[in-house]
Amino acid sequence: MSDKQADTVSDAAAELPQYPMPRSSACPFAPPQATLAMHDEQPLAKVRIWDGSTPWLVTRHADLRAVLSDPRVSASDRWPNYPYFNEKTAEGAQHRPTTIINMDGEEHARIRRMLTRPFMFKRIAAVRPAVQKSTDDLIDTLLAGPAPADLVTALALPLPSLMIGELLGVPYTDHEFFQRNSSLAISPESQEEGIQAMIALMQYLAEMIQSKTANPEENVISDLAQRVQAGELSINEAAVLGVTLLVAGHETSANMIALGTLALLEHPEQLAILRDTDDPKVVANATEELLRYLTIAHPGQRRTAAEDIEIGGQVIRQGEGIITDLPAANWDPEVFPEPERLDLHRDARQHVAFAFGPHQCVGQQLARAELQIVYGTLFRRIPTLRLATTIDQIKFKSEELAYGVRTLPVTW
Ligand code: HEM
Repeated sequence: MSDKQADTVSDAAAELPQYPMPRSSACPFAPPQATLAMHDEQPLAKVRIWDGSTPWLVTRHADLRAVLSDPRVSASDRWPNYPYFNEKTAEGAQHRPTTIINMDGEEHARIRRMLTRPFMFKRIAAVRPAVQKSTDDLIDTLLAGPAPADLVTALALPLPSLMIGELLGVPYTDHEFFQRNSSLAISPESQEEGIQAMIALMQYLAEMIQSKTANPEENVISDLAQRVQAGELSINEAAVLGVTLLVAGHETSANMIALGTLALLEHPEQLAILRDTDDPKVVANATEELLRYLTIAHPGQRRTAAEDIEIGGQVIRQGEGIITDLPAANWDPEVFPEPERLDLHRDARQHVAFAFGPHQCVGQQLARAELQIVYGTLFRRIPTLRLATTIDQIKFKSEELAYGVRTLPVTW
């Protein structure tokens, strides 16, 4: 390419809209207005991201499902034009092991199969009493302490790590070690602290897997131990998988608990539906609508076309980067009329808050169990729960991979 042609290409890139687009301060729950406008104007369009590259952006619900379920679309981050989230994730890519999240085809299916049993409906149903007990215990502690209190540290953060510990099969006596290192691995004070916590968890899981080989129980560590014994998985792969579950399932659920609570406190007529019901179907429906409305996995799922594909009449060439925007798809008015309305009675089952296709969230039934129990318990146990500040004082996690609030001061 001549210098002149290269200049023309970069000029053209400079004209493209920058992604991600900023959210409006008018409604902190709404996806960026400019992204939503693309539904009508340019449902499949090129955008410019932080490194100047120009992947495709997909905003319509139907197109997003088509892209995410197409076997010619790759989730691997080793393609030259892979649209990384930011500089930090791009730099770290060479040092990270390939995990389930970035695998394709048969390699992905093999690892994914290892998680079929752990996330079976029966297992999740068996964890529900423990989720309920932990929720009640955390609420008891909150009520016994001073008000106002921060709901993020009191409930939203500890509950998911307790639950993943339960699902994995971490013995009660090790819960404190597991929880401490989980928090450090996920929100470290320094990079070194995060790495040390991750190593401690990997070693712990590897030892547990070895010790469970002889005495299997009904939990993930025992399942993985059996797979290792059968030669289907190496001990290292098994430990990486355990830590991936922890990382993928911790902050996501925590953000959904806290942000969902805030959205309900800001919509008292909707909150009343949850406070006044003991019907699990109403609570389950409300949870789906909150997942749709808030879609906390907000910076777009990143992919690359492994072959030429045609989506909505547009050809995407092999090697081009693609970003599918889950919040925009969940606010697509073709599928969800008046998407800006939080309506806990709406049928939101078509939402894509857990994505779609082969990489669709493996932990979604556990997440649902946690959210249904929290939303179904919190407002019934504390009917006077309210914000201890104004919404404009709340700090939102706009730059992070999962949207949420940093703290949620509440009183009652
Ligand atoms: C409200 C809570 C949650 C939300 C919104 C959420 C969202 C998502 C999304 C959008 C993906 C797809 C990523 C992609 O396509 O690139 C995903 C994948 C995944 N999630 Fe979740 N998640 C949640 C909770 C959990 C929990 C509780 C666990 C496990 C305990 C978990 C484990 C995983 C794993 C392992 C993957 C990768 C699956 C694969 O690549 O095949 N998630 N999640």
